[in-house]
Parts: sequence; structure tokens; C-alpha cells
Amino acid sequence: MCGIVGYIGDKEAYPIIIKGLHRLEYRGYDSAGVALLNGSLNVYKCKGKVSDLETFAKEKDKKGNIGIGHTRWATHGEPNDVNAHPHCSQSGDIVLIHNGIIENYAPIKQELKKRSYVFKSETDTEVLVNLIEDIKKNESVSLFEAVRIALNQVVGAYAIVVFEKSNPDELIAAKKGSPLVIGVGEKEFFIGSDATPIVEYTKNVIYLEDEEIAVLKRSGEIKIKTIKNKAKTPYIEELEMKLDTLEKGGFPHFMLKEIYEQPRSIKDSMRGRLNATKGTVNLGGIADYEKAFVNAKRIIIIGCGTSWHAGLVAEYLFEDLARIPVEVEYASEFRYRNPVIHEDDVVIAISQSGETADTLAAIELAKSKGATIIGICNVVGSSIPRATHAGSYTHAGPEIGVASTKAFTAQITILTLMALQIAQAKGTLSRTKFHELINELNVIPEKVQAVLERNKEIEAIAKIYKDARNALYLGRGYTFPVALEGALKLKEISYIHAEGYPAAEMKHGPIALIDENMPVFVIATQGTSYEKVVSNIQEVKARKGKIIAVVTEGDTVVKGLADYTIEVPQADEHLVPLIAVIPLQLLSYHVAVMRGCNVDQPRNLAKSVTVE
Ligand code: M6R
Repeated sequence: MCGIVGYIGDKEAYPIIIKGLHRLEYRGYDSAGVALLNGSLNVYKCKGKVSDLETFAKEKDKKGNIGIGHTRWATHGEPNDVNAHPHCSQSGDIVLIHNGIIENYAPIKQELKKRSYVFKSETDTEVLVNLIEDIKKNESVSLFEAVRIALNQVVGAYAIVVFEKSNPDELIAAKKGSPLVIGVGEKEFFIGSDATPIVEYTKNVIYLEDEEIAVLKRSGEIKIKTIKNKAKTPYIEELEMKLDTLEKGGFPHFMLKEIYEQPRSIKDSMRGRLNATKGTVNLGGIADYEKAFVNAKRIIIIGCGTSWHAGLVAEYLFEDLARIPVEVEYASEFRYRNPVIHEDDVVIAISQSGETADTLAAIELAKSKGATIIGICNVVGSSIPRATHAGSYTHAGPEIGVASTKAFTAQITILTLMALQIAQAKGTLSRTKFHELINELNVIPEKVQAVLERNKEIEAIAKIYKDARNALYLGRGYTFPVALEGALKLKEISYIHAEGYPAAEMKHGPIALIDENMPVFVIATQGTSYEKVVSNIQEVKARKGKIIAVVTEGDTVVKGLADYTIEVPQADEHLVPLIAVIPLQLLSYHVAVMRGCNVDQPRNLAKSVTVE
């Protein structure tokens, strides 16, 4: 996690760095800092958000056209001023920012202590900067070479940017396991954990590969080597990102903006892939791997959090439409379980950020066993799409709110297209059903829009339940993953304890929790399990629980039972998750706002979990 920014060129570095840190704040926000060189090296850092850093640095000397900045999500050491980055070496000559974890920091620290290094912070980063200094001094090498040697000694993940007081003309950046993008301007370079701090200055970027180090010179020269000292030719790519996607655009929070973007983002996910007029589905990214799907005896889906929930929806889709057995795994469990993986397995890795450490490690494991790996990611150029054999981007646009919303519906859209394409290739779906589903999918954006128009009603329900201490979410079949997602949304941004369950499982335990104070959110849309869900609602009512149900327009049965209902347009049950999740996203949003929570940056969380 953590966001890192760097700049070298003719401009003042501070405004570029601060703006960049605001853009990267989704990655961590417990402390922040900058280092600027202008004859003297000025390091300002403090506990809190980037805005606290701005206040702290207000009256200070912020001049300099080389600098680095960091916004932190604590791993080693509590969030405080001392543990905040940048960290300086003992002599004060070298300054460094880091995103990742140096796993073997303890023995290195012991060694350095024996050599009289004294540590101010509890961080692994301060160990790394002192290791670099120690190597530089003892081996009389350049900073670049000292960084390279040091990185051969560390175990773990890192994206670092480092420079030294005595050399205002060079920034050094390196990465392994954590992302790093270099923006290439006219005799200037920008560095970011992703492209968001860079996009308004240049469209030319280099995505650094693992174990590469770059030296960026004020003259405009860039050199890249591997940590094993092999020269690499920099590969410059053009960024597709649009600046306005990074602003709130009049909405009070990114989360609300992103919820409202869903009619558009779902359309963007389908663009060029679904042609309802011609009756075709074509995900170009998996074209060469269609055979692997058709011959697969099994699909394994891996992901974390919301992406794992999207995987659960896909389990129903692939089994139902393409008749391929599916297992959905938490990447964090899968990677350590010694799982049985065959060469004819297809593994689908789902990730919004494309950087989730557990998902990446699970991919590497499955790849080493010969499986075909397909990625579904949102962030273009991120690590997961690079690690997979093939895949499809979701094209939902940058998602900045820590709570995932539009990425979830975009992932389900892609997974639906994928299941349809494979079902067609396998011949497991009738032409009539295939056409029916693609026609329905084509109009889902309008149906999502119709749900958004119920925002006021949903806000009124949120007001009634905002002080609940617990909540239960129930769904069945295709809506069970939606129940899980609804519960996750509520707990992560409003800190209300919430559980998602398959509706029928309720009577095997959670029913004991139900009393007159327990709100139970039930997704009771029309479909094969409708009657059964109605019976589950009766069971809750019999125990005086409060029912808030998401129902299909025109429903009368559930309306007669529930305390409150939210209507969504009728849709084929394969596609219901795409619309049934919208009221639950809005509900969580409003509850969190009413409780005074920081919706876009909930406590303890970060958008991109690049540590395990
Ligand atoms: O970037 P990823 O999709 O790999 O992230 C996975 C989870 O960390 C993420 O979905 C998380 O659970 C969100 N906070 C959910 O809103």
C-alpha cells in the first residue's frame, strides 16, 4: 500500500508532489511526508492525511526542483511523525521513500546496529536507507550502485525512490512486487505508484518491471538496469487515462460519483465486445485461449474482497451457462494451501487494482503448475495483467473510493460476457437463450440508471437504520454474492457489524441473532429461489426481525411482508446481481455519511493491498 511520488526537472517539485499525494491518498492515509532539495535537504512529515502535511509545511521552505513524497499505510511501526516517510540515512545524506515490506529487515538492522547505526523509527524503510548508505561508504560506489547492491540483499517487496543531498541532478527508482510508473516529460521525470499523479503532465510513461532500477537525470537521460546489472531499454507507453476521471465532478464523495457512474462504466465494459444487433460477444483478450476454456475440466477463480464476490457470481454463471465446474478461492488461502492444480485448469484472477499481493502470489503459484491464467483487472498496466497469459480489462475508469462499487459491476459484466462466449464456443447454451441474455445485458445500464433514481427512497431507509449495531444480509443463488457484497459495503465504510448469508443457511445459526432490533436486508428479486426466499422472510418476521427487501418492480408478496422494500427493474436472474447491488451500495453510502464516517477513506483500509 502507500503512495509514492517523485519529481525531477525545472518546475517546483512541492506542488506536483502534494497534488500527486492527494491522488494517491486512496493507497494509505495515516501519515505523509515530503523531502525537497534546494541546497539544503528539507524533510517534512507528520501523522495524518496529506492535508495535515500541507498545514504542517505551510510556513516552511518548500523550494526545490527535485523531491519525493509519501502517503503511508502502516505496516512496521504505528502511524506517527517518526515512522512517516521519507526516511533519511544516519548521515542525513540519503533520503528514501518506500512502498512494500522488507521481510529480512531484522537481521540487517542487527548488523547495522553493530556498525553503530542508530535507528529513530520502527520502520523497515529506515533499515534499507542505512543499508544503502553503509554499502555506499564501504564500497565507495555511486548511489545507484549502492541501491543495486542493497536490493540484492533484501527479501520482500519494494517500490522505492531515493536521492542524495550531494547530487541534485539524479533520482533513483526501483521496484519489486509494488508498482511504480515513471512519467517522461521534456527534461523532467515524474514518478508515481500509479499514473494518477502523472497524467496531467505527460502521457508518456514507463512501467518499471520487477527488479529494475532506473536512474532519472535532470538532463532528461534515463537508464534502466536490473538489480543483477543487466541493461534494459526503456519502453515508453502512451497513457489512456483522462484527467476528469480523477476529480469528484461535483459529487461530495468519490464513492457516490462512482456509484452513479455505473450505467456508463458497465457500457464501457461492454463496448466493442457485445454487439446486440449482430448478436455477438467477443472478448478479444481471451480469443487465443478459448480452446483452453472449452477443454478445461475446471475453472478456478481467485480474488480478494469485492473481487472475490464477483468471482462467486461467476461461479453460478460459468456452471450454469458453460457447464464447467468452478471453484472460487480467496487468493490469500489458495496461495498457502498446496492446492491441486492441473495443466488443463483455467485460473481467472480478478482484481480492480491489479496489484493485490495475495492475488499476484496465487497467480504465480498456479502459473508454476502449468495452468492457464486469465486476468480481469481495471487498472491498465498494473502488475496482474502483466503476470497473466491473457485477459480483459474492465475499463470502468479509475476507482478512487476505497469501497469498491463500479469495479464490482464491471467485473461481473466481463465475467458474464466471458461465460457467454465460452458457452457459445462449447455449445452449451441454446441460440435463443444466448440472444435473450445478450439483449438483456445490453439494456442493463438503463436498468441501473432506474435504480439510481430511487436514491431518495434509499436515503430515507438509511436514516431509519443508521444507528443499527448489527445487520444481516440474505440472498440466494445469484443474489447470495450480492448479500455478501452488501454486508461488506456496510461494514467497511460505516463500521456497523454486518454478515452476508445464503438465505437458507440462516436457520443453521444466524437466526439466533434475530430480534426486533436486527435489520435484515434480503434480496428477494424474481427468480428460481423467489418462493424459498419468501419463506426465509417469514422466518425472520416470526422472530420480529426488521425486513428491508430488494424486490422486482410490481412485487406484491414480499411487499406485504417487509417493513420496507426497494424496487429494481425486472431482469433475467443471471443478470440480477448487476442491478440488485446498486441499492445496497447507496444504502451503505448514506448510512456512512449520516454516521459521520470518512466514506472515501475508511479507517484502517487502503485501496490497494500490496502487502499480505
Ligand atoms: O484491487 P482488488 O480488487 O484486488 O482488491 C481486492 C480487495 O482488497 C477489495 O475488493 C476490498 O475488499 C475493497 N475495499 C472492497 O470494497
